[in-house]
Amino acid sequence: MQLRPGEMPLMRQLVLQLAGVSLDDSKGYLIETRIGPIAEKAGCANFNELYFKLRYGGEPVLTQQVVDAITTHETTFFRDGAPFEALQFKLLPEVLDARERLGQPKKLRIWSAACSTGQEPYSIGMVLHELLGDLRGWDIQILATDISKGTIETAEKAVFPDHDMVRTSRPQLVTKYFDKVPGGHRVVEPIRKLVQFRTLNLLSPLFGLGPFDIVFLRNVLIYFEPATRRDIVQRIAGTLLPHGWLLVGASENLMDCGPQFVPQTHCRATVYQPGVVLPTK
Ligand SMILES: C[S@@+](CC[C@H](N)C(=O)[O-])C[C@H]1O[C@@H](n2cnc3c(N)ncnc32)[C@H](O)[C@@H]1O
Repeated sequence: MQLRPGEMPLMRQLVLQLAGVSLDDSKGYLIETRIGPIAEKAGCANFNELYFKLRYGGEPVLTQQVVDAITTHETTFFRDGAPFEALQFKLLPEVLDARERLGQPKKLRIWSAACSTGQEPYSIGMVLHELLGDLRGWDIQILATDISKGTIETAEKAVFPDHDMVRTSRPQLVTKYFDKVPGGHRVVEPIRKLVQFRTLNLLSPLFGLGPFDIVFLRNVLIYFEPATRRDIVQRIAGTLLPHGWLLVGASENLMDCGPQFVPQTHCRATVYQPGVVLPTK
């Protein structure tokens, strides 16, 4: 299905409202290739019809299909390497000290806030296992959320194809924490049981979430307009404990989000600790 004159602004507005994802005029091909087949299957003659069906007709299943199709779900285990080194060797040791001071030495809450098909939260679980051993006696929860229902369903199955096992900066860990199953490799049960998955749109209120020690908000901010990005970052910072850490993607920065977002570099990763005022040099 091809976009007709006047349909691109309508579709841009729809995608912005549904997911906060900002598409410029050069992204018409994404609408045509990803949403076009869904519109045809739903019996729409053109994008105009789809727009009105979704805007005024309810249609939660169709809405979810459009959201799943227009969002980009690229991810890998231990994506970019450095953030997971920082997690293991800097963030978690400091968080454990802070928890000790709170009188909760064996408790951790971590949120993967745009988890796609689950590689990120499972990688976090593997790092925890590496650092803390078998985790017996620990109260640990990794909350993993994404707007896309399809990716959450895939993540919950925890079965990944062979090529995912090699597209990673830590192949030795990836082999250690999987069982071979028909159709690929399944994350082992001790890691799976650390992670709770939920569908969540970051545009919606975050009531009841947190407080977290660490939030991964990686490779999703790039899709939002500046004001939406700032709003999401500030609300997510509000879910952090005072000692809490925030990680964003390698191509993302929080320069315009407020003075509390001072970048720190640890293990070659950029991380933020918005509740801690750093001494001025
Ligand atoms: C490129 S993936 C990043 C996955 C992972 N964090 C990583 O760095 O590998 C971006 C994810 O953000 C999700 N996303 C996009 N807009 C969202 C929104 N408004 N709320 C929650 N998740 C969203 C997409 O569904 C997609 O799975």
